[in-house]
Amino acid sequence: MKASAPGKIILFGEHAVVYNRPALAVPVNQVHVDVAVSESDQPGIWIHAPNIDLLSDLAALPPDHPIGSVILKTVQHCGVSPLPTLSLTIESSIPVAAGLGSGAAVSVAIIRALSTFFSHPLIDDQINKLAFETEKLHHGAPSGIDNTVITYNMPVYYIKGQPIETFKPGQPFTIVIGDTGVPAPTKDSVADVRRLWLRDSNRFDSIFNEVAQISTMARHFIESGRPQLLGELMDHNHELLRQMTVSSPELDTLVYAARKAGAPGAKLSGGGRGGNMIALVNADSAKTVAKALITAGAIRTIVTEVK
Ligand code: PMV
Repeated sequence: MKASAPGKIILFGEHAVVYNRPALAVPVNQVHVDVAVSESDQPGIWIHAPNIDLLSDLAALPPDHPIGSVILKTVQHCGVSPLPTLSLTIESSIPVAAGLGSGAAVSVAIIRALSTFFSHPLIDDQINKLAFETEKLHHGAPSGIDNTVITYNMPVYYIKGQPIETFKPGQPFTIVIGDTGVPAPTKDSVADVRRLWLRDSNRFDSIFNEVAQISTMARHFIESGRPQLLGELMDHNHELLRQMTVSSPELDTLVYAARKAGAPGAKLSGGGRGGNMIALVNADSAKTVAKALITAGAIRTIVTEVK
């Protein structure tokens, strides 16, 4: 039994989404996690994840290990008892800790593969809830946007605690993702923003409100087939993220390099301080912008179409 899950990227609204403001995220199908489950003649549940050098029996993993935990939760949810003997292979082309949702994609692909293997396929809503439980082990207090966009594999307009809204672009558009190569745990930047918000909640709430307006307008432009209007919103959102203190010299360098190379807009994406940025491009400028990002220090670029 095999299942896959895509990567994801946040277009607008990161950090503000933790404070119940809307954010937009889209799947990135150029990178994915593939999970294969098969019966095994060795006792136990064997997990092989070559990308993270993991080859272990489930019983030997610590209880808060995200992979062990999502397997156990799925087994319990499907009412399988006693623990079956099987082997799980997890392969991923999603870079780890780079804001592309690798943790959530691993969870979603495992839940899909296992539940189907147990002849107990789950609906997206159930998969999303189980994946969210595991996200809490990665991030502490995640908004839930990663597991949602990856589960539904569609653009989402996400407000924490509200029914999920997927949407469809009126016209496809292209973005380039540039990776600073600087590892930056989302947990830390989220905790720092919380400290600053507690100190000056009026100022931060008004920044979050501006971000909320940007996300709402962006959805409108995307759905009505006017993606060329997103550039200005990206630039504005980046400025607000700078005010939240989550940009970094490396992110700013890539953002400015993309704009100089002809991108109508660019911003950091995700937790910030490192990780990825995104730039709006068109079919002609995608290559030039991707090249400019590499020259400016990006370790990797991904060109993806939002559709
Ligand atoms: O770093 P990423 O792509 O996992 O995104 C984090 C997004 C935040 O809004 C900063 C946190 C969250 O849980 O939504």
